[in-house]
Amino acid sequence: MNKTIEILPSKAALIARSLQLILEIIPSAIAERGIFTIALSGGSTPKPLYEAIAAQDLPWDKIHVFWGDERYVPPTHTDSNEGMARQAWLSKVPIPEANIHPMPTDAADPAIAAQQYEQQLQDFFQLKSGEIPALDVVLLGMGDDAHTASLFPQTDALQVCDHIVTVGNKDGQPRITFTIPLINQARCVMFIVAGASKQPALAQVFAPSADGNLYPSRFIQPFGELWWLLDQDAGQNLKRAD
Ligand code: 6PG
Repeated sequence: MNKTIEILPSKAALIARSLQLILEIIPSAIAERGIFTIALSGGSTPKPLYEAIAAQDLPWDKIHVFWGDERYVPPTHTDSNEGMARQAWLSKVPIPEANIHPMPTDAADPAIAAQQYEQQLQDFFQLKSGEIPALDVVLLGMGDDAHTASLFPQTDALQVCDHIVTVGNKDGQPRITFTIPLINQARCVMFIVAGASKQPALAQVFAPSADGNLYPSRFIQPFGELWWLLDQDAGQNLKRAD
């Protein structure tokens, strides 16, 4: 793992830096494998990034979009991560619908939806059962409680290591989420974190030792690149272990 922490002077600078890094990765991924694959985060932080990507002239037919987690609601629901990304980005660019791979949220049992998405990933990446796909970029946010994707503190999803997609749980509400092994298989994991409210969680995530079950973002230690992009409000008091 190659970890880089950057503290940017503003949220706008954070978004610009994350866009720059993604734009650098896209051509090399396409040159090497013919496509670029990215898993999107939900929440509020990434929305301006999605809007900025939508303004780029990119080889959309070679770009495939997945989600790292999803609330268990229809894409038309205001909480939908898919709905937010479509509104901010995907509806504004000529990306083929076949290149957009949303997490299913229409099965009666969220566990069925998680299995369906896991199968979709294995089919797309042409993997045998048990193999873990390496996405080019997994974009992540971090909650004030140090959760990431829908891997919330002290939940069963943190223990899942024999699947790549599982059911997350936020205050009793089901989510579909990448598991830690899938996130850690990524060529590049990029956290974008903004706001002073994130400081306590960041202090625990970057502490020399703390319990990952209480601060799940600690478990994100990818084989590839790990980028922590923080704005000044989030990162100004960070004591870094490394
Ligand atoms: C979600 C996200 C979640 C998010 C964090 C941070 O579905 O809510 O995937 O993990 O990244 O909660 O959210 P903000 O960006 O709104 O602070």
